[in-house]
Amino acid sequence: MKLASSAVWSFAVAGLALATGVAASPAQHVFAPHRPEAPETNAAVSPVRHATPSLVDSAKWERIESMAALPNYQLRVKQPKLCETNATQYSGYLDTDEDRHFFFWFFEARNSPKRKEAPLILWMNGGPGCSSSTGMLMELGPCRPDKGGASVSPHKYGWDDQAHVIFLDQPLNVGFSYGSDVFNSIAAGKDVYSFLQLFYHSFPEYSKSELHIFGESYGGHYVPATAKAIHETNLEFSQKQSLGVLSTAEKQKRVLPLTSIGIGNGLTDPLIQYKYYSTMACNSTYDPVLSKSQCDEMDRSYPTCARLIDACYKWQNALACYPAEAYCNRMLTAYAQSGANVYDVRIPCEGGNLCYPIISDIDAYLNRPEVQKELGSDVSEFVSCSQKVYAGFTFSGDWMKPYVSEIPPLLEAGIRVLIYAGDADFICNWYGNKAWSVALEWSGKDKFANAADKEWLVDGKSAGEARTYENFSFVRVFEAGHMVPYDQPVNSLDMINRWLAAKPF
Ligand SMILES: *[C@@H]1O[C@H](CO)[C@@H](O)[C@H](O)[C@H]1NC(C)=O
Ligand SMILES: *[C@@H]1O[C@H](CO)[C@@H](O)[C@H](O)[C@H]1NC(C)=O
Ligand SMILES: *[C@@H]1O[C@H](CO)[C@@H](O)[C@H](O)[C@H]1NC(C)=O
Repeated sequence: MKLASSAVWSFAVAGLALATGVAASPAQHVFAPHRPEAPETNAAVSPVRHATPSLVDSAKWERIESMAALPNYQLRVKQPKLCETNATQYSGYLDTDEDRHFFFWFFEARNSPKRKEAPLILWMNGGPGCSSSTGMLMELGPCRPDKGGASVSPHKYGWDDQAHVIFLDQPLNVGFSYGSDVFNSIAAGKDVYSFLQLFYHSFPEYSKSELHIFGESYGGHYVPATAKAIHETNLEFSQKQSLGVLSTAEKQKRVLPLTSIGIGNGLTDPLIQYKYYSTMACNSTYDPVLSKSQCDEMDRSYPTCARLIDACYKWQNALACYPAEAYCNRMLTAYAQSGANVYDVRIPCEGGNLCYPIISDIDAYLNRPEVQKELGSDVSEFVSCSQKVYAGFTFSGDWMKPYVSEIPPLLEAGIRVLIYAGDADFICNWYGNKAWSVALEWSGKDKFANAADKEWLVDGKSAGEARTYENFSFVRVFEAGHMVPYDQPVNSLDMINRWLAAKPF
């Protein structure tokens, strides 16, 4: 996702200053906290927040769903009328008995001939700590905010064209979600599994909809973690099913129809990806952003950074992983100070701390009391990117962990995998994403490494290049930054519709 990243990376810089005693850098003017009340760099401050008492009202929900098989969870649902789309919408919360409340917003496929049976995409923005509602309103949802955020207008290239799309605000305390915290991607995955079980149970009309888990940026962590949780729990469940040992309650559950995963401009294999920052800054297909000496400096830092990430891959705990993050993200300071947009090497960072003026329009729209009322929000403040959540993930050591290793078992199980990247993004650039895709250890590795990059055409025009072997595809999207559907709405819709229909690029 997007903003997440700006807030995210601001914290990378700030966190580094904390950890090393280096004075706060001028980069802070680029990455100043966007929420006035956010504590500057005090990562110890908890992001926990609670419902606003005046907004808690069980009468506002049309349905409250639960399942005996998931006694610790419930789903509260209403049908908002927003976003000027004529398709069915639902919004509400997944509640857990441990005071976790995840907000979701669902849109039914607008134009699918399959109607209710259209595929279902679960979308997660990154950050860590940014709301998926920003992805909805800036990138792939059915409407976009008007200037100032007083209203929205239809956006016909939303991915809800041929698919049902659920935008889920996770982790907690992001967007309209609230409650006690979960600071690593694996715990987040278990709640998403329960959410999807309850969703399919509560909406049997979508029971034939194949499931596609998609995300962006730090979603390069969430997507593999979530898909792993779903896949493994599916396997256990089918085993019990075939042994005939399911309890009456468990029989309410189902094998979730996980069909594919997708990651856009993700952070998935940091060991490989951190090597390519100098390429993107100095030797990409666009103009260089940094000087040769600045890039040489990054190249000189990489071996130490790689050793630290290696240790994190080996031990996978905060003690091993936090130092890697602190050291390696320091390599990015020069870029942050350059004034260039970390999400797009072609443009400066403008329009506020998150580099895109539309972000403040989204914030304004989702902070309108009548919009919050229509959505059923339990909290009176929409948090587009939480620096506190960001800091929590950072210090937990999650950043550098090898979520990439969750992907091969999915491929071997016949679950399709799409990695795509806008080729103007710096922060999760296409060089690094392509490099780890080629290096991925799976049974098709050699064939994928030798496969050709084919030109991908949309309406006869070159939209990018794509490489595919069996169920694994890497797509480089031309002329797009970190938020591909924002920069290339027509082409990104072509990409997702081809993918969902399993048509080649
Ligand atoms: C919704 O339906 C109305 C009436 O059929 C139509 O005029 C309008 O254009 C539709 N809106 C969208 C966004 O499709
Ligand atoms: C820059 O990129 C080109 C094309 O990919 C490559 O041939 C060249 O070796 C690179 N230069 C440096 C200094 O890395
Ligand atoms: C590719 O994906 C399809 C559809 O999910 C699946 O049926 C097939 O077995 C997969 N192929 C391989 C080689 O894994």
